[in-house]
Amino acid sequence: MNGPPDPALDKLRGRIAAARLGPELEEQGTVIAIADGLATIAGLPGAQLNEVVTFGGGARGFVLTLDEDRLHAAFLDPMAGVTAGDIVTRTGHLASVPAGTELLGRIVDPLGRPLDGAPPPDWATILPAERPAPQIIERDFVSEPMETGLLVVDALFAIGRGQRELIIGERKTGKTSIAVDAIINQAGSDMICIYVAIGQRMSAVRRVINAVQRLGEPARTIFVVAEATAPAGLQWLAPFSATSMAEWFRDQGKHVLIVYDDLTKHAATHRELALLSHQPPGREAYPGDIFYLHARLLERAAKMAPERGGGSLTALPIAEIEAGNLSAYIPTNLISIADGQIVTSQALFAGNQRPAVDVGLSVSRVGGKAQWGAMKAVAGRLRLDYAQFLEMKVFSRFGGFGDAAMKARMTRGERIAALLSQPRFAPLPLVTQIALLSALNEGLLDALDPPRIAALKTALPALLDADARLEELRTHMQTLDDATRAVLIEVVRSGLEQP
Ligand SMILES: Nc1ncnc2c1ncn2[C@@H]1O[C@H](COP(=O)(O)OP(=O)(O)OP(=O)(O)O)[C@@H](O)[C@H]1O
Ligand SMILES: [Mg+2]
Repeated sequence: MNGPPDPALDKLRGRIAAARLGPELEEQGTVIAIADGLATIAGLPGAQLNEVVTFGGGARGFVLTLDEDRLHAAFLDPMAGVTAGDIVTRTGHLASVPAGTELLGRIVDPLGRPLDGAPPPDWATILPAERPAPQIIERDFVSEPMETGLLVVDALFAIGRGQRELIIGERKTGKTSIAVDAIINQAGSDMICIYVAIGQRMSAVRRVINAVQRLGEPARTIFVVAEATAPAGLQWLAPFSATSMAEWFRDQGKHVLIVYDDLTKHAATHRELALLSHQPPGREAYPGDIFYLHARLLERAAKMAPERGGGSLTALPIAEIEAGNLSAYIPTNLISIADGQIVTSQALFAGNQRPAVDVGLSVSRVGGKAQWGAMKAVAGRLRLDYAQFLEMKVFSRFGGFGDAAMKARMTRGERIAALLSQPRFAPLPLVTQIALLSALNEGLLDALDPPRIAALKTALPALLDADARLEELRTHMQTLDDATRAVLIEVVRSGLEQP
C-alpha cells in the first residue's frame, strides 16, 4: 500500500468515507382527505412549510400549512387518481424554480416547466420560490425612472425602478393593456420583463404573449403562466416563483420589471385553499394572513444599493375591483402595501378616454423623485390644469361659459385630454412626451382638434429623432434649458406644417 500517491484514488477513498451506509430514513405519510386542489395528510412530522411532497401516482404538492398532527398540501399537478389512504413521501426540497438567462424568451409554468414546446430550462441554478425580501441596508432609494411610454403615467405618476405601483380598476378597463404597454416600451431599454399570469383564461394570456412577441422584445421577456384551470397550488405559487426568477437578474445588477396579472385572483386562490384547510375565515372570508401574503411578495421589489450591484426589481401588481369600490378588503390591503396606484375607471373607458386613468384617484408615492428634471419642467402644471378642466366640464353642462379666460381653460383642458389618451401598443418616447408638453404649455396645440393631435403624436418621434440638436437631451434628461425647449417647439411646429 506504499506506492506513489494517486489523487484519483484519494478522491475515491474520500467519497467512500463520506458515503452514508446503512438504512436511509424516508418519511412517509398518508392522505386522509382530498378537497379541490388540496390534500390533508397525516404523518410526515419532519415536513417543513413549502416542502414538496409526492403522492403515490407521482403527482406533486407542496406544504401549505402545518398543524400539530396533520398538514395540508396544495397540488402542483392534476390531482386525478390521488385518493384518501394514498402514501405521501417527503422530498426534502422546497418548492423551487430554475433561474438564469436561459429563461429569457421562454413561456414556463411556476415550476419552470416549459409551456412553449421547447426543451426544459437548465436547472444548474435553483432558487426557492419563497425568499426573504432584501434588508434595508441592502437597498437604495428609488430614483431612476422606469418609463412606460404612456404619457399619462410618465408625466403624472412617474414610476421609479424598484417601485411597486398597483394598477387597479374594474374589469375590462384596460388594466392589462397599461402593463403590456409598459413591457413593450422596454424594447428600447435595458429592462428584463416578466409577465406573470395568475388564474386567467389561456386566450387572454395568449393575447398578451402575441402582443409582446410582435411589438416588444420577447428575447428579454419571460412569461410565467398559471392559467385558470391550473392546479390551485401552481396558481398560488406563480407570483412567488416568478419573483425568484426576477431576483436572480436583480442580483446580477440588472433591472427587471415584473407584472402580476392579477393579485385579486391570487387572493381568491389563497382564500379557497385556506377555507379548504379549515383556517378561520376573517373579513370577506379571507384568512388573517392575506395581508402578510401580499406584503411579503411585494416587499421583494427593491432598488439595490451600489455595493449589492445596484440592480432593481420594479413590480406592477394588477388588481380588479367591483363597482368602483376601492375600499373593499383586498384593494385597501394592496393600496396600503404598494407605493402608489394607477386607478382605471369604467366611466372614462366608456367615454373613450383611454388609457382610462382616473387622475384624481391615482398617485405615485415615489413619483417626482424618479422623474427626469426635463419632464418635471414641462409637466408641472398638467395635473392641476387637467383637474380644473374636469371640474369645469361638469359645470359646463348647466350652460356655456361666457368668460374668455374660462373658455381658454376649457380649450387647454380638451387638448390635455387628447394628449393623455393613447391607443394601445403605441408608446411615446420620453423626448416626444416632453416636446408635446412643451408645445401644450406654449399654447401651440390650442388650435388643433383631437385627430390632428393624434396625427402629431404619430409623426413627432421620427422628426425629433432626426434632429441632431436633441442628442444631448436624448441622453441627459436631468434638465431642460431654454435653447433645447426652443428646438423642441420648432420641431413640433415643423410637424404641424406637414400636410
Ligand atoms: N389604450 C387603449 N386604447 C384603445 N383600446 C384599449 C386601450 N386599452 C384597452 N383597450 C381595449 O380594452 C379591452 C380591455 O383591455 P384590457 O384587457 O387591458 O382590460 P383589463 O382591465 O385588463 O380587462 P380584464 O378585466 O379582462 O382583465 C382591450 O381588449 C382593448 O380592446
Ligand atoms: Mg386584464
